[in-house]
Amino acid sequence: MKFNKHIFICINQRAEGAARPSCGEAHGMAIVEAFKKKLKDLNLSINVRAQRAGCLDICDFGQTIVVYPEGVFYVGVEVNDVDEIIEEHIVNDRPVKRLILDKAKY
Ligand code: FES
Repeated sequence: MKFNKHIFICINQRAEGAARPSCGEAHGMAIVEAFKKKLKDLNLSINVRAQRAGCLDICDFGQTIVVYPEGVFYVGVEVNDVDEIIEEHIVNDRPVKRLILDKAKY
């Protein structure tokens, strides 16, 4: 199946005391569940998949997700950002600028 949008959500969890933070420790699975629920509730006519992913190697800015085909990385994503990402980016093709990774900092 070809997806119009494919969302990868980092749920990586490092061992306790690891030098770098990890998305799984924050709320990776809560974000996955929030995406799945909202997408199901909306029953969109486009093919969208939200799935768990391993480390996306951008670990220092809070919960990370990436949306393809655009390859837009979002960082510091909270559960209450999920509706906006879906309504703006997934449905209307308008990426949510305030959450996009600032490549200058990376
Ligand atoms: S732990 Fe999530 S991007 Fe690395």
